[in-house]
Amino acid sequence: MSSGKLVILNHPLIHHKLALIRDERTGTKDFRQTVSEIGMLMAYEVTRELPTTAIEVKTPVGIAKAQTLAKEVVIVPILRAGLGMVDGITTLIPTAKVGHVGVYRDEESLLPHEYYAKFPSVIAEAEVLVVDPMLATGGSVSHTISLLKERGVKHISYVGLVGAPEGVKKLQSEHPDVNIFLACLDEKLNELGYIVPGLGDCGDRLYGTK
Ligand code: PRP
Ligand code: URA
Repeated sequence: MSSGKLVILNHPLIHHKLALIRDERTGTKDFRQTVSEIGMLMAYEVTRELPTTAIEVKTPVGIAKAQTLAKEVVIVPILRAGLGMVDGITTLIPTAKVGHVGVYRDEESLLPHEYYAKFPSVIAEAEVLVVDPMLATGGSVSHTISLLKERGVKHISYVGLVGAPEGVKKLQSEHPDVNIFLACLDEKLNELGYIVPGLGDCGDRLYGTK
């Protein structure tokens, strides 16, 4: 089993856009658009080490040595909030297929509850990006990764916006083979399991449900 890495993306555009979505005054329209834009920027870095196949292409002038992606890419957003990053990522990887996992976190126990799962048939051999903006206790993402591994998926990375140290620790101990990409690593969780300073409830802010 190869060892996963923790990457905190450090880029001025990502910092700028994170400031916007952290701001409690940012409304649904700008919040949704900016989450998607950060997803697109992160996709560039997250896909940096995807395997490629060498090919030859006939140009109008000669034969060029070229490379194409060697494997299918499957994006797996965790509903609801993960959906907010999918459009941005598929802007960079338009051929990506998309699986969906529905998980909500019980408000009292903070434990994940799965209510939906549907995956493309190619998933076992694909490069899979599990997408959820918030890594709090880590329960929802860890549960989703276990579900994918039960289906034989071998190459998994997690892509999120804001993580808590507690969530990173849980993922690293339960899934040490999985790469973790975050836009930012925050201080801690509060007594309600929210990330501090975080950005509040991401699903509610994306969809205007509070
Ligand atoms: C949020 C978030 C993550 C989860 C993170 O979803 O989008 O999926 O909480 O918390 P955890 O790391 O402690 O599991 P939520 O349960 O609020 O569901 P929603 O996206 O449908 O609002
Ligand atoms: N889920 C969220 O949407 N925000 C948090 O801070 C923690 C879990």
